[in-house]
Amino acid sequence: MIKIKNLNKIYPNGFHAVQDVCLEINEGDIFGIIGLSGAGKSSLIRMLNRLEEPSSGSIMIEGKDITLADKKGLLNIRKDVGMIFQHFNLLSSRTVADNIAFCLEIAGWNKKDIMPRVEELLEVVELSDKRNSYPSQLSGGQKQRVAIARALANNPKIILSDEATSALDPKTTKSILNLLKDIQKKFGLTVVLITHQMEVIRDICNKVAVMSNGKIVETGGVHHIFSEPQNEITKELISYLPNEEEKEIELSKTKGKKIIKLIFLGSLAGDPILSRTVKKFDLDINVLGGTVNVLSTMQVGHLIVELIGDMKKQDDAIEFFEDSDVKVEVLYNGI
Ligand SMILES: Nc1ncnc2c1ncn2[C@@H]1O[C@H](COP(=O)(O)OP(=O)(O)OP(=O)(O)O)[C@@H](O)[C@H]1O
Ligand SMILES: [Mg+2]
Repeated sequence: MIKIKNLNKIYPNGFHAVQDVCLEINEGDIFGIIGLSGAGKSSLIRMLNRLEEPSSGSIMIEGKDITLADKKGLLNIRKDVGMIFQHFNLLSSRTVADNIAFCLEIAGWNKKDIMPRVEELLEVVELSDKRNSYPSQLSGGQKQRVAIARALANNPKIILSDEATSALDPKTTKSILNLLKDIQKKFGLTVVLITHQMEVIRDICNKVAVMSNGKIVETGGVHHIFSEPQNEITKELISYLPNEEEKEIELSKTKGKKIIKLIFLGSLAGDPILSRTVKKFDLDINVLGGTVNVLSTMQVGHLIVELIGDMKKQDDAIEFFEDSDVKVEVLYNGI
């Protein structure tokens, strides 16, 4: 559906930011582009809707070379290719509804069709109750939802996303990614997504291209790239991936529930300290992760648990663990 051939971008100062890039992106792909800062990712993606003019090469979208489009053709391309940015690009003087309406006005929609379409879009991004709020009154995640509604306004076939989640906390990132995934499925979109967050690639992309110094150095299915990275850059990027446990901790952080790491030497099995503590302080616990290594002489390991219940009793429980010779690290204090 998108065929990029020998694409180059040389900026007026002579900097060769995108060098002979060839890529094929199929319909329905959620295609990730990763790479270190300055690799040329934004330059590349911005050429896909000609926000940035290519210096040479071709970009075929559904058989048409968009690098040849004239002014009118460009307007049609922009309808077919929606874009979301890291910094939302919302108009601060307009309400949520008017921000979305703005895109439709520019695209020449009939006045009477605009508001019904805005309502539809608000529903898709679950923001109907915020229609009259101003951007300054929204959270980062909500602003990004407005930006997504704007990108979807003209029923595009392709969505480009440049670091759309990098300003958001992990929980909000997850909800925005889920939204993108749902939208992709619901409307049969093709998504091209730039991120420096490897977990974003892992969680929603099916294919990925790795960029370095203006070139694509590796491309393939996500499973393949993660299990058998070939290029040194890819290996380095994968090494930044937070492990499952850290991710789980990030996502679990909830006010009023401490998350602690219990480190033990020897067997916990012989001593039901967890259940004793839970009963003694009338708490609930939620196990988030852990490992046990069986050494020749003993077991060592750790458990990550979330404490649920009265905050004072959570503190008492931590003290009790320590008194029972279990080392405790507080990972999140619940405040
Ligand atoms: N208008 C411009 N004029 C000259 N050089 C530019 C221009 N825009 C970007 N560059 C250079 O092109 C290179 C690629 O920039 P680009 O923004 O595409 O990188 P990126 O991969 O998106 O990086 P990041 O992850 O930091 O967003 C950088 O070295 C940048 O300095
Ligand atoms: Mg960029």
